[in-house]
Amino acid sequence: MNNSSKIAISDAHSKIILAGEHAVVYGKPAIAIPFPLKVASIVEKSIGPIIFESAIYTGFLYNMPIKLKGISNCIKETLKYLNKPEKNLKIKIISSIPIGRGLGSSAAISISIVRSLFSFFERQITQNELFYLVQIAENYAHGNSSGLDIMATISENPIWFEKERGILSIKSKCPLYIVVADTGSTSDTRVAVENVRKRYNLKPKKVQKSLDTIEEITNEIKKAVLNGNINLLGKLLTNNHNELINIGVSDERLNNLVKLALDSNALGAKLIGGGLGGCMIALARDRGQAKEISNKLVKSDAEKSWYFSTNEDVVMEV
Ligand code: MEV
Repeated sequence: MNNSSKIAISDAHSKIILAGEHAVVYGKPAIAIPFPLKVASIVEKSIGPIIFESAIYTGFLYNMPIKLKGISNCIKETLKYLNKPEKNLKIKIISSIPIGRGLGSSAAISISIVRSLFSFFERQITQNELFYLVQIAENYAHGNSSGLDIMATISENPIWFEKERGILSIKSKCPLYIVVADTGSTSDTRVAVENVRKRYNLKPKKVQKSLDTIEEITNEIKKAVLNGNINLLGKLLTNNHNELINIGVSDERLNNLVKLALDSNALGAKLIGGGLGGCMIALARDRGQAKEISNKLVKSDAEKSWYFSTNEDVVMEV
C-alpha cells in the first residue's frame, strides 16, 4: 500500500473525576465525565527514524525525554502490534490540555496517537485494543494505575468505573455547570498514589475509613447525578474533597481555590485527579454563576480557569 500522501488525524478529550479518585485504586467505584479540552494527533509519512513533534519535545522518537517514555513505549508497542516498522513516520501532537493537572492529558495523548496510527495503517480498533495499548503508557506514567483515566478518556459519556468490574455509562438528569481551575502547579499522580499507599501502610484503619467514606459519597453522588439533585451533589463533592484532604492528597492552593469557590456560592467544590497540585472543580447553579466563579478564581490564585456545561462539547476559557 502506498501511504506517501496520506495523513491520519485523530483526537481525544480530557476528563474530570467527579468522585472516587485514589479510592478507585483500592477497588472502590469512581465517577468521571468528559471534559471538552482536546488533543489531536497527526500521523504522516516521512523518511528515516520516527519524528515526534509536540509543544514539549520535537525530535526523534528514540531520543524522547524520560518523562515521555510512556508515550514512546506506547508508540513502539502499537507499531509492533500493527506489524509495522519503527520508521518513516512523523507524529505531531496539538493539544489544548495542560499537562500534569489531573485532566488526563497523558491518557488523551496516547489515545489520540494509537487511534491515528491505526487510522494511518487503515486498521479498525476495538475498545479493548485501545485500552491495552494506552495502558502501556499509563502504567509507566502513573505506576499501578486503576485504568480509570483511560476509560474516562475513551468514553464519550459520564462513566461509573470499578477496577474489577469495568464501566457503566451514567446519564445526568440535567446539565451540570462545572468550573475547572488550574493551580498552575504540576500534579504527579505516581507520587500522590504512592503517598496514599505509604499512609495506608502506616495508618491502615484511618485510611480505610476515608476510603470507605469516599465509596459512600460516590454512591450518593451517582444517585444525585441520576436524579438531577444539584444541591445535594454540590455538598457531596465538598465532602469528597474533605476526605481527599484526610488521605493527604490536597495542598494549600487547592484548598484555597475550593474555599474561594464555596465563598462565591458554588454548590460544592473539590480537587480532581491525583492532587498535590493540578486542578479543582466547582459546581455552579447555571452558566452565569459558572462564569462569575471562574473569573473570581482567576483574579485570585488560579493560573487559568474554564467553565462548561455537560450537555455541550464546548468549553469557555477565562
Ligand atoms: C488519577 O487521575 C486518578 C487516580 O485515582 C489514580 C488512578 O486511578 O490510577 C489518582
